[in-house]
Formats: sequence, structure tokens, C-alpha cells
Amino acid sequence: MARRKKIYEGKAKILYEGPQPGTLVQYFKDDATAFNAEKKATIEGKGVLNNRLSEFFMTGLNQIGVPTHFIERINMREQLIRAVEIIPLEVIVRNYAAGSMAKRLGMEEGQQLPRPIIEFSYKDDALGDPLVPEEYIIAFGWASQQDLDDIVALALRVNDFMAGVMYGVGIKLIDFKIEIGRIYDGDFMRLVVADEISPDSCRLWDIKTGQKLDKDVFRRDLGNLTDAYTEVARRLGVMPANVTNTKPTLIN
Ligand code: TMP
Repeated sequence: MARRKKIYEGKAKILYEGPQPGTLVQYFKDDATAFNAEKKATIEGKGVLNNRLSEFFMTGLNQIGVPTHFIERINMREQLIRAVEIIPLEVIVRNYAAGSMAKRLGMEEGQQLPRPIIEFSYKDDALGDPLVPEEYIIAFGWASQQDLDDIVALALRVNDFMAGVMYGVGIKLIDFKIEIGRIYDGDFMRLVVADEISPDSCRLWDIKTGQKLDKDVFRRDLGNLTDAYTEVARRLGVMPANVTNTKPTLIN
């Protein structure tokens, strides 16, 4: 069988040509990077977990009427998605101070913010994804004011959904990053949640113990990353309760 055409390879995922026009296959690798790929590792099982977790979150969002690129999971590492034109922004939503915000403002990590705060970074690895004000986004034409209003509304809905789902399983949603894509339908353009939603792109703390269950485990050398992601998947009922090692067995 001819090898599928690779469309794009990023740090954690590969995009292949899909079976129908307007579709792509998104493959989740086991590679982990941090600090703009200064730190790298291959973590067995991470791709399988993120494929399954991103399916879980995107399916839930689709069901509550938040449009996403997700169509269906194909196998352990791949999912079928709608092809979108990615807006070159990382849309970050924060409920509690952590990471770069805590550092920039000298805040203690875990301090609750007065309200969810949304910020944008320009997606450019060579520049280290710099934080950009809305004015840059509009002036440089990456998105219009109307797009930004729609993106903020989408991001807040994703935040409410994710925070609620995680709260239900004893996890605090500290912050997360999403990416937004454009889908063209004739003369109409729609914005949808794209890329992935997984513990690679969220900060998730156990409500009782404060234990980190996200990629900070890797960034900060806090333990075994697959154990942390497996715990998130187990609590969400995405995996059987008896799976605790680094070789997850998935429910179909
Ligand atoms: P930050 O505090 O490092 O700016 O990260 C904010 C959120 O965005 C956090 O949940 C991790 C996520 N994130 C990504 O998904 N990709 C990235 O490249 C970075 C820097 C952060």
C-alpha cells in the first residue's frame, strides 16, 4: 500500500492527507518537548493517551455545540479531523496564576485570578511564541476584530466545559492553550477549535493534594509523565481503573 502523504510534522503530532477531501489524519507521537524544544524526550504511551484524551474533550465540545475539527478516532494513535486553516495564535486561558504569567508578574502559582484571563501568543517557534496584544493581531491581519471576539467567546466556552469536566473528577483546571482554525463553507467562514486538547496543553492539579497531572511533570522533572496522564484518563473513565503502568490498555 502506498504510504500516505505527510502534510506537516510538528513536535508532538504529524498530519497526513485524509481519506476524503477536506479531511486529514492526525497522528499523535510519543515525543515531548519543552522550552521551545530545548528539552526533548520520547515518552512511551504519551501519544496514545493524548489521542484518547483529545478525542474525549473534542467529542464533548462538539456535543455541547462548540465546533471542533474532530471527526472520529481511527486507532490508538490517529484521528480523522477536518482540514482547517490554522490561525497562527496560541489562545491561552488562565483561571489561576501559573507558568509564564506567575513568572512575569511575580505571582504565586495557584493564586486564583479575579476572572478567566485570555492571552494570545504568536505561533512562531523561532521567536519562542511571543505574547502579542490584540492590536498586533488585527494590525498584522492574523485575525479581525470580529474573529477575535468569536475566539474569546469560543475560548470561554471551552474553559467552562473543561473546568466543569475536570472539577467533576477532582481536578482543577489552572490554564490551557487551544488553537483555532478556519473552515470555509462556500462564502462562509467558521471558526473551530483545532489541534489538540490534552494534558500537554493544559495545567491540571489534583484539587485535594495539588499534585500536577500535566506536562509540567516533564517540564519540571516531577516524575513519570505517563503515570500522570493515565491518572487523568482513568478518572475520566477513558481507561479501565486497573491500568496504572506505562503501557496503557485502552477501552474501545
Ligand atoms: P505558560 O504559562 O507557559 O505560558 O503556559 C500556559 C498554558 O499553555 C499551559 O497550560 C501550557 C500551555 N502551553 C502549550 O500548550 N504550549 C506551549 O508551547 C506553551 C509555552 C504553553
